[in-house]
Order: sequence, then structure tokens, then C-alpha cells
Amino acid sequence: MEQDVDETSRGRLTKDGIRIYEPADFAGMHNAGQVAAQILDDIAPMIAPGRTTGEIDDAITRMVEAAGAESATIGYKGYQHASCISVNHVVCHGIPGPKVLKDGDILNIDVTVIVDGWYGDTSRMYVAGRLPRKSERLVQVTHDALFKGIEAVKPGNTFGDIGHAIQTFVEGERMSVVRDFCGHGLGRVFHAPPNVLHYGRPGTGPILEEGMFFTIEPMVNLGRPETKVLADDWTAVTRDKSLSAQFEHSVGVTADGVEIFTLSPGNKFHPTYD
Ligand code: MF3
Ligand code: CO
Ligand code: CO
Repeated sequence: MEQDVDETSRGRLTKDGIRIYEPADFAGMHNAGQVAAQILDDIAPMIAPGRTTGEIDDAITRMVEAAGAESATIGYKGYQHASCISVNHVVCHGIPGPKVLKDGDILNIDVTVIVDGWYGDTSRMYVAGRLPRKSERLVQVTHDALFKGIEAVKPGNTFGDIGHAIQTFVEGERMSVVRDFCGHGLGRVFHAPPNVLHYGRPGTGPILEEGMFFTIEPMVNLGRPETKVLADDWTAVTRDKSLSAQFEHSVGVTADGVEIFTLSPGNKFHPTYD
């Protein structure tokens, strides 16, 4: 995703162009993140065989409105939906529509809302019906990879440390990390510096500072890492048609570590809750 123009003058910019927000700004990010996370909690009962991704997106559109929030994706670079829904070998940016979910499908739902001008961006995996064993492993590894990355977030570490933590974990499980898409700074804009790579070398990249807000959103494939974008200009799929999974949190760097803005209010982030 290309970066957006940041016309705000809050806080300051580092030499890498990364905005440093004020302590008071964490509350705005928390509120926006919680609205997005609550929507992902509330949509869960709807995920079942026979549902279309379009029906799910329609419900999300209504939930965004009911929360008094604004969708960050409707109208974004021509995108027309309140969510991206990426099923099976779709890596990200799946467009909701007539596709009918079937038993054993795994899907990522990605929702970004704007609340009081702050962006809350989060995604997680769901399963329609019964979760096949190899999909279960993919989903678990992808979930754990996100948290390996989050554990590396503290002042003084680098963005390369985050990417390295994710990459070594995923590749140790004999799966691959997608290179073609990355996390991003966010705050008063949707996509800002830096690009948050989900691979890398320790000690490389910009140094993390208190007040940085960004997403970590690793995409993991069971097969090879290469992707391609379909003719609709949005849908990214694995080139080898292997299954892909993704989890995303919006986080802020605190004085001694990290605040996760998009934690699930109902503890439903992982799809194998009952
Ligand atoms: N929410 C996605 C992200 O994590 C971006 C979706 S942009 C859209 O950055 F236009 F495809 F919705
Ligand atoms: Co994002
Ligand atoms: Co997202």
C-alpha cells in the first residue's frame, strides 16, 4: 500500500519521517482501535458455510455506522467496502461480494475505522465450519508470528528486530512470510511511514521511539511467498495457490514497551475460541 499525505502537525517527525505522537494521543488510538476490534468480535457469529462475503461486509458497514465511526476503506483509492475479506489462498485485499463460504474455508477480515480522526486498523482469521488440520497450523503460526513481532516492540529496538522475530519464527515452522505487503505507520492518517516489514535483520531499520504508532500485520503462506494481484487491481493471491493467513494489530510504542490498541474486547482474537 502506498503512503498517504500526512497534513497533521501533531507531535514531531523523526529523520525517517516517522511521526512521534504525544502521550495524550494514545487515548484516541485506543478508542479507534477498540471500535474496530469490537466489530471483529461482533461479526464472528455470522461466519458460517453458506454466507457470502458480501453479506458479511454489509453487516460490517452497518456496525461501523452504529458505532458512530467512519469507514477508512470506503472511498479509499476507489475501494468501495467497509472490510477486506480474504478467503483461503487470497493473501489480502479480498473484495467482498457474491462468494459463498464453504465448510473448512479460512478467511481474514480486515476492518479500519476512523474515530475522532484517529485510525484503528485490525484483522484476524475466522473459519467457516470445521477447521482443517493444516489450516489450523497455518492460522496458529500466523497468530503467534504477530505476537513475536509485538514482543520486539520497545524503545531502542529497531524495525528490523520486529521483522526478524517474525521471519525466523515463521520459517522455523517451514512456512513463508509474504514480502509484497507490509505494515505501516498510522495515526491521523491510514498509511504513513515507516513500512513495517515482516522480515529483516536484527539492528537494521529505524529505531523505535516512544510515541510511534504503526501496524504489524504478517501474511504467512503454507507454500511459497510470491503473490500476484488479480485483474480487479485489489485481490492479492498466492502465486502457487497455497493457503495464506494474516493477523493485524495497531500498536503504539510506550516508555517501556508496547500498547496494543486493537485487543479483542471479548478475547476472540484467536479463531479457536468456543
Ligand atoms: N486495512 C488494510 C491494511 O491493513 C488496508 C486496506 S485498504 C483497502 O492496511 F482499500 F483495500 F481497503
Ligand atoms: Co494495516
Ligand atoms: Co488492515
